[in-house]
Amino acid sequence: WSTEKIRNFSIIAHIDHGKSTLADRLLETTKTISARDMSSQVLDNMDLEKERGITIKLQAARCEYKGHVLNLIDTPGHVDFTYEVSRSLAACEGALLVVDASQGIEAQTMANVYLALDNDLEIIPVLNKIDLPAAEPERVIGEIEGGIGLDCSNIVHASAKSGIGIDDILQSIVELVPPPPAPTGGAFRALIFDSYYDPYKGIIVFFRVVDGCIKSGDKVRFINSKVDHDTVEIGVLTPNQVPKEYLMAGEVGYLYGSIKDVLDARVGDTITLTSEFKKSLLPEYKEIEAMEGYAESVPMMYAGLFPVDADDYENLRDSLGKLRLNDASLTYEPESSGALGFGFRIGFLGLLHMEIIQERLEREYDLDLIVTAPSVVYEVETTKGEIVMVSSAAKMPEQQLRAKTSEPYVRIEVLTPSEYNGKVMELGQERRGILKDIKYATETRSTIVYEMPLAEVITDFFDQLKSRTKGYSSMEYKLIGYRESPLVRLDVLINGDMAPPLSTICHVDQAQRTGRGLVNALKEFIPRQLFKVQVQAAIGAKIIASSSISAMRKDVTAKCYGGDISRKKKLLKKQAAGKKRMKMMGNVEVPQSAFTAVLKID
Ligand code: GTP
Repeated sequence: WSTEKIRNFSIIAHIDHGKSTLADRLLETTKTISARDMSSQVLDNMDLEKERGITIKLQAARCEYKGHVLNLIDTPGHVDFTYEVSRSLAACEGALLVVDASQGIEAQTMANVYLALDNDLEIIPVLNKIDLPAAEPERVIGEIEGGIGLDCSNIVHASAKSGIGIDDILQSIVELVPPPPAPTGGAFRALIFDSYYDPYKGIIVFFRVVDGCIKSGDKVRFINSKVDHDTVEIGVLTPNQVPKEYLMAGEVGYLYGSIKDVLDARVGDTITLTSEFKKSLLPEYKEIEAMEGYAESVPMMYAGLFPVDADDYENLRDSLGKLRLNDASLTYEPESSGALGFGFRIGFLGLLHMEIIQERLEREYDLDLIVTAPSVVYEVETTKGEIVMVSSAAKMPEQQLRAKTSEPYVRIEVLTPSEYNGKVMELGQERRGILKDIKYATETRSTIVYEMPLAEVITDFFDQLKSRTKGYSSMEYKLIGYRESPLVRLDVLINGDMAPPLSTICHVDQAQRTGRGLVNALKEFIPRQLFKVQVQAAIGAKIIASSSISAMRKDVTAKCYGGDISRKKKLLKKQAAGKKRMKMMGNVEVPQSAFTAVLKID
């Protein structure tokens, strides 16, 4: 068996630079998929992805070109999914770096390049959208050479849209991406880069064979998960699943069998054969070890999810169960709240992950939900010496019972054009960051390193970073542990009554500002009622901010003069739709937006 004719690669790009279009074109040119079968963008097959234009789940496709097998492994494109990107890159030897010739290098381009370099990939730059009148190939080549240090003397000028340069790209993959290492004669080992749930076949696992060989029917062991499973079928992805008898070192494929839970086959885990694994426990055999880089995804934040209609609780529970089948990073447990009723406390990787889950539940499972503001997990030592982990303000022990409070910190690296260093540092300062280092990758690009509370990062830090640096920055962060921090619970009172789902935890120095901001945001989000509504923020018994919403007549159609009945109907319909996302707090109707108001404070 020789791996000489295999090329495993992925495409990395900033959002909208044309990754999916190029992938389609590669499959089309290699006749993997006929133009007729091609619903546009075959690789992004979740509806939501198409609509939002983001790639969340990884997919793979095998095509043939001039006697070579090219395996394209797709990667998700957002910071929330860095770990998945890194694992999918680990299954490749090369990456096409697609840069929009009218835009140049942007946020995700750099982050992905660094991940590719970490994985020792051969990076092939491609200048896309060369057909656009606004394309500036010279300037963008300058950025790629200067900013990343890639040689662009032979860069392919391409247009994924009009099909320019596609053959050159395929040729470069064959010539420049190294073949996978030859098999060592050792035991079967494969790296999982994705998995998903199929209602008929159970969990389908995507993997790259690193060494050895697997044949259909083999019993496999997932080393980190420590579980064994039978395989029913193995095969390759074209991108349809095509069964094969064997898969050998260097190949990319799928398997399924008796696996029912994604937690058994997590991204990054190593697969081996049960028999080989058992043999490896004998003294004369070399022990089979898991491949490096495996990490279990840990939720970075938690939020409460409650059905607007209490009758939907069962439906929500079942739907979460179904979503979790496809998403090992989704964790949840039941939660109940006096104001919101029965729901779930859910762990997320980041804000985008939260939005995606919420949207899928609402859209695919037809649920109307109230989502509370996300929170990190705080550590509280009580006066009795107990340690309590708190992921919701409502569960924070009362002030007099808290002896010590700590919060999770991250080490965050921001990559930015140096002209924005000042802007980034301003933001870092506002978010309680401790500046650790500034490194210059080139004269014009820097990496700014901070240690910062995770709570400051998970809200809108990334959005702020992007808007303050015109989209030219990217970031990555890692948890580094807990640090003592004076925290307070900020409560909200509506007409004098506590509204626990609106409470939030913040640093004592920020309490005043957050309190005022929260009250102002609530004033904006809570619609006028038939009576005056007072909104207050308090720490314990002390009111720190207050505002009121004046009363209004409820009949919204009253302001429609004349007899325009269609307009009247429209308004009533709009009001009814808005109603769906309301919860009563005391006698005040509170809309969904108010529950996450704390995210909207500047
Ligand atoms: P994400 O999935 O959001 O990461 O985006 P992507 O990088 O996959 O970009 P996608 O392929 O969806 O392309 C984004 C937009 O650019 C689409 O409207 C494409 O039609 C357009 N586009 C892609 N390639 C070209 C090209 O070569 N020329 C022109 N003019 N437009 C292109």
